[in-house]
Amino acid sequence: MTTTTLTKQEPATAGTDTATAVPHAARIGHVSKSFGRPGAQQQVLDDISIDVAPGEFVCLLGASGCGKSTLLNLVAGLDAPSAGTIETPGGRPALMFQEHALFPWLTAGRNIELALRLRGVPRAERRGEAERLLELVRLKGAHGKRVHELSGGMRQRVAMARALAQDSQLLLMDEPFAALDAITRDVLHDELTRIWSAANDSGSGTGGLSVLFVTHNVREAVRLAQRVVLLSSRPGRVAREWQVDIPQPRRIEDSAVADLSIEITEHLRGEIRRHGQH
Ligand SMILES: Nc1ncnc2c1ncn2[C@@H]1O[C@H](COP(=O)(O)OP(=O)(O)OP(=O)(O)O)[C@@H](O)[C@H]1O
Ligand SMILES: [Mg+2]
Repeated sequence: MTTTTLTKQEPATAGTDTATAVPHAARIGHVSKSFGRPGAQQQVLDDISIDVAPGEFVCLLGASGCGKSTLLNLVAGLDAPSAGTIETPGGRPALMFQEHALFPWLTAGRNIELALRLRGVPRAERRGEAERLLELVRLKGAHGKRVHELSGGMRQRVAMARALAQDSQLLLMDEPFAALDAITRDVLHDELTRIWSAANDSGSGTGGLSVLFVTHNVREAVRLAQRVVLLSSRPGRVAREWQVDIPQPRRIEDSAVADLSIEITEHLRGEIRRHGQH
């Protein structure tokens, strides 16, 4: 078993309010995960330790099949690790997947109101709060639209608004923009960065927002994250990590983003070569 020494993380500059409330937004401690019957087990994750600081934006990067979704599902509490511990002291995380998973028989607004209801928001406040969240993702006026009337990018915005409706301090995102065209994805990168920064603004009045974002797109990881964690494959382990100090808002075509992406891609390629994947 390889032991990976992680660099000590400085607390994120954003989210100082929550930094005093909880020591970390998520703590993944020596987590391993295997699937299958005893005797015919496949180990997918091996001894993974990652701390996400309050207000921090972390991207998990790795080749297809390396266990990113498995790890995110463990943090979400949808499955249990075979070994190790997962802590999310700020409460239940919000989730957003590649597929929007909106209820097609409800309007955009009603999808969000459902999340508000599950959170216990009183009925009289739900409509106004849903309108506010739609405005936050720049979908003002879309409350009454049915899901099939929305473009792919608009659906992902509604899904983002619904995830934000949970008012969690930790947002788990599993390739949420992978199915979108490059321009729409670029716009949503800007939106996500803006929403994350605003939530961590000390005057925001919110509890702060940490993001654990899964992708196999290196540029996307460098565009968004304060820290990129590269996973190896078969089994998934923490191979390396990078602090990304490029100031936000970044552009995907920035030369600093391109340079770091080239460096990380080299490492990702090395991981893929080592494991004989394509
Ligand atoms: N419930 C399950 N039962 C058995 N095997 C599983 C289960 N979930 C995932 N796996 C296996 O675990 C491995 C990692 O899958 P996972 O979906 O976590 O990868 P990933 O990194 O998210 O890949 P991608 O980038 O393609 O989404 C795969 O080999 C997959 O077949
Ligand atoms: Mg996946």
